[in-house]
This record gives sequence, C-alpha cells and structure tokens, in this order.
Amino acid sequence: MIVRPRRLRKTAAIRDMVRETSVSVKDFIAPLFVKHGKGLKDPIPSMPGQYQFSLDTLLDEAEEIWNLGVPSVILFGLPDAKDATGTRSWAEDGIVQLAVKAIKDRLPGMVVMTDVCMCEYTDHGHCGLILNGQVDNDGTLALLSRQAVSHARAGADFVAPSDMMDGRVAAIRQALDQEGFKDTGILSYAVKYASGFYGPFRDAADSAPQFGDRSGYQMDPANAMEALKEAGIDMDEGADMIMVKPALPYLDIISRVREICALPLVAYNVSGEYAMVKAAAMNDWIDGERVMMEMLLSIKRAGADLIITYFSKEAARAIVSKQ
Ligand code: PBG
Repeated sequence: MIVRPRRLRKTAAIRDMVRETSVSVKDFIAPLFVKHGKGLKDPIPSMPGQYQFSLDTLLDEAEEIWNLGVPSVILFGLPDAKDATGTRSWAEDGIVQLAVKAIKDRLPGMVVMTDVCMCEYTDHGHCGLILNGQVDNDGTLALLSRQAVSHARAGADFVAPSDMMDGRVAAIRQALDQEGFKDTGILSYAVKYASGFYGPFRDAADSAPQFGDRSGYQMDPANAMEALKEAGIDMDEGADMIMVKPALPYLDIISRVREICALPLVAYNVSGEYAMVKAAAMNDWIDGERVMMEMLLSIKRAGADLIITYFSKEAARAIVSKQ
C-alpha cells in the first residue's frame, strides 16, 4: 500500500482546509522613518518603496497602513542634530516624540511603537555612551530610560529598546513606572545579532557607527544557546514582548525561543532581507510577491506571532486582494 499525502493536496479547497499556518494583516508592524521638514517623502535608494517622511507625509502613510488593516507602526527618528550623548533622543520636541503625538491624534486606535536606541542620535553612531573608547553599558541605561519615558509621555503604546545594553529592560521598566507610565509596554529586542543584514537600514536612519562595529554589544551570529539566555533575562526583567532579529537567517532561533517563551514573539524581517527580495525581483530573477509571502509565512511557521516588516503595506494588499 502507498501512503498518499497527495490526497490532501488535491484541490484548492482541501489545501485551504488543512493549511497549518497563515499570515494575516494583523500580524504586521510597519517600520517608518521620520525626519524634520515639510512635504518630504525622500526615497531610500537601497530599500525601494521605503521613504524618509516628514510629519505631514508620515500621517498620510500611517493612515494608509491603518486603512489596509495593519494595526501597528514602529517609528525611527532622524534628528535635526547629533551629539556625543544623543540629547535630541529624549527632547519633548524631538522628531519621534512629535510623530507619536501626531499619529495618536489622527489615528487613536493605531498601536504606536518606538525604537529606543542612541545610534541615530549620537555623532559617533554607537548605541550607547562612549567611555574610554568603549560603549559604556551602565552609563547608557539612564539615557535609554530617559528616551523611553519621553516616548511614553508623547503617547507611545510600546517602547522597543534595540541597543543591546545589559539590564536595560529592568531600568526602562522602573523608569516608566516611576514616571507614572505603568501601562506603557516594552517590546524588547532581546535576541539581536550583529548582522550584515542591517546595511540598508543604516543608510535609511543614518546610524552607521563611525568607528569599530557593534560586536561588543550585539550577539554573535554563531550562538543559539545564548539566544535562550538573552530571552530569559528580558522576560525576567519584565518585557511584555520579545523580539528575534534578523528573521530569515535566524528561523531556527525563532523556533527555539518560541519553545521557552510564553510572551508574544516578534520577528524583525530586516532591511537587508527586504532589499535582497526587491533587488532580485527588479531583475526579474524571482517573483517578488510570491517570495515575499513565502518569506513572511516561513517566519510565522517558525513560531513568530508578529512580524516587523517593510513589506507590511505590500503584503497587506496582496492578502486583501486574495480574500
Ligand atoms: C538601531 C536599530 C537597527 C535596526 C533597528 N534598530 C540598526 C543596527 O542595530 O545597526 C535594524 C533594522 C533593519 O535593518 O531593518 N540600533
């Protein structure tokens, strides 16, 4: 007797019935880059279809995202000035703070998240304070906390620290609670690798380190056990959601963290993953839409609940058009 798995693939309706994983517009968190100015929608060359927005155009984009059924955005700021300690990162009139307020005014139901990090705001481009040529962990915690509180004050629903300093989830939680923001959540970039896949982002956010690299604080791509350690620490410190980043080259990590994590698990489908698909599709080497959907499905199948992805709008359109 032959065992016949093909019976379950016979018609589209049967395949629909037995499909194990699905991707929904509700799974997406759309990253957006915002800068000072008016009427700006400056294309990011290495990320076709992605832009740096000024506040006015950002609102139109957020509205379009919301109307497609995507519930959430995560904001990255390009400040008007950088300095050694990243002081513009916690300013009340800082670009992210203004953007959070503006989106919450226009779209009160949208879940607004903010990236919390120093690299976009420091003149040296590192994710923390520099002390004797090194990124100083403990000194950075106060700055991150201050930035997180300023985002919460502006109305952010979740702050998302991406700096990879030790102890920052606990420090931020304590600062938020002390300032009365007990309901502002923390999405921790708990498992973040030192990755070449962030290349296009560093152009988009103008955040490349001016000396050295990030290997002293981001994780070694060779390590899997360490991911479990990092996720465990951030769960203990009070994170509300845990992230693995990048996504596609780390599906094994998503799947292993899933096993130990009872919190919503978020995967960041990063800039380099987006750029590769776009570049190949523009050459007609792959079917861009098909590969995009397969990629997003694989991230869900690995165990992610939510995906931060530059494909949010495009994938939402593809999903809606097939309904
Ligand atoms: C800031 C930050 C980075 C990304 C998100 N937050 C860059 C980095 O760590 O160098 C990368 C996102 C992407 O590549 O899409 N620390």
